[in-house]
Amino acid sequence: MSWYETSVEVDLGERSYPIWIGREAEAGVLETASKLISENRKCGFVLDAGFAAQQAEFVSKLESLGPVLKLPAGETTKSLQELGSIFDFLAANTFDRSSFIFAVGGGVIGDLGGFGAASYLRGIDFYQVPTTLLSMVDSSVGGKTGINISAGKNLVGAFWQPQGVFSSTGFLTTLPERDFNSGMAEVIKHGMLNDRALFEQLESLDVLHAEHAELPGIIRRNCEIKAAVVNADEKEQASSGGRALLNLGHTFGHAVENAAGYGEYMHGEAIGLGLVMAAELSLRLGNISEDDVNRVIALVGRYSLPTRCVEPMSVAALMDAMRRDKKVHRGTLRFVGMKSIGQAYTIPEVAPDLVSEILVKYGAVE
Ligand SMILES: NC(=O)c1ccc[n+]([C@@H]2O[C@H](COP(=O)([O-])OP(=O)(O)OC[C@H]3O[C@@H](n4cnc5c(N)ncnc54)[C@H](O)[C@@H]3O)[C@@H](O)[C@H]2O)c1
Repeated sequence: MSWYETSVEVDLGERSYPIWIGREAEAGVLETASKLISENRKCGFVLDAGFAAQQAEFVSKLESLGPVLKLPAGETTKSLQELGSIFDFLAANTFDRSSFIFAVGGGVIGDLGGFGAASYLRGIDFYQVPTTLLSMVDSSVGGKTGINISAGKNLVGAFWQPQGVFSSTGFLTTLPERDFNSGMAEVIKHGMLNDRALFEQLESLDVLHAEHAELPGIIRRNCEIKAAVVNADEKEQASSGGRALLNLGHTFGHAVENAAGYGEYMHGEAIGLGLVMAAELSLRLGNISEDDVNRVIALVGRYSLPTRCVEPMSVAALMDAMRRDKKVHRGTLRFVGMKSIGQAYTIPEVAPDLVSEILVKYGAVE
């Protein structure tokens, strides 16, 4: 029996790679690493310590294959210092250009480990082993790797595609529910931006969870959607549409995250609220109906994601945060809206007064 249930090919010419998805896809990690080692290629495993604490059996199998570096859980690990610890780990184990890194963890380890692979010896091969829902449906697709610096998140990095991605939904059984739901914000976003059928499928299902029979197929569909968008605009250079569409809900969401103080909302929670606000913006611009907005609110709320500001936040603080966002282009606030559920577009310019009205409607105070 194959160790994966379904797969997607990310089609990027020479840098194309497969994503394998299934309840027991971690068996593919062990098989692939064993094969590489039998060909005298070194394999090293960079692990999220929070994941490692929950999945000791799998980790001990990795330890029997090659050197393991466990890094602390949390966003602060995406730092220059921990990037340095990856370089030291690789050098201490005399990794060369033929060696491989497996980045095993959520988006933090995927981004950091991927950037380590992109820069060590000017680039070595790596595999992604995402262990959170967000990393399975979003961060492991598209090749963006990087770290945070004190001036801001994700400001240093590289586009570096993995050789393959192993998404084992079995890992999600130990993921806290709040993290799972946070990943659902990106799943809902993908339906809103590109796939009405996915959105309607989510509406028709009970609440999804790690062991839900439909989860591998839903992860595959999300990877297909993100891969198609990335494929058309790998380095985010399209003047409209393209990779920027993946920012649906993110101009509002990042502002909420930032104005509330990082840590108050999980990223996906802020994006959930951002999706509601982006739907409202689409209504105000005459594209979708009030009923559509209510459908978005119902789906976001079903995953316990906020549909209003949890604590009152000031409009001024939110507007300031938006102006500092890297999506501001030549002084103009840039948003992504929907023409209809399942069809997103980049809005060239939005009047600040309209943005303020929407913020107030969803709980911000003037
Ligand atoms: N590269 C991209 O395109 C892209 C896209 C979206 C987000 N990101 C990045 O992703 C990061 C967020 O990723 P995330 O939400 O996966 O967070 P994360 O990597 O911080 O993981 C969340 C938490 O889950 C724990 N964990 C992971 N797997 C587990 C498991 N199976 N069982 C139990 N606990 C587990 C971790 O220890 C951590 O505490 C951010 O840094 C963001 O910038 C990158």
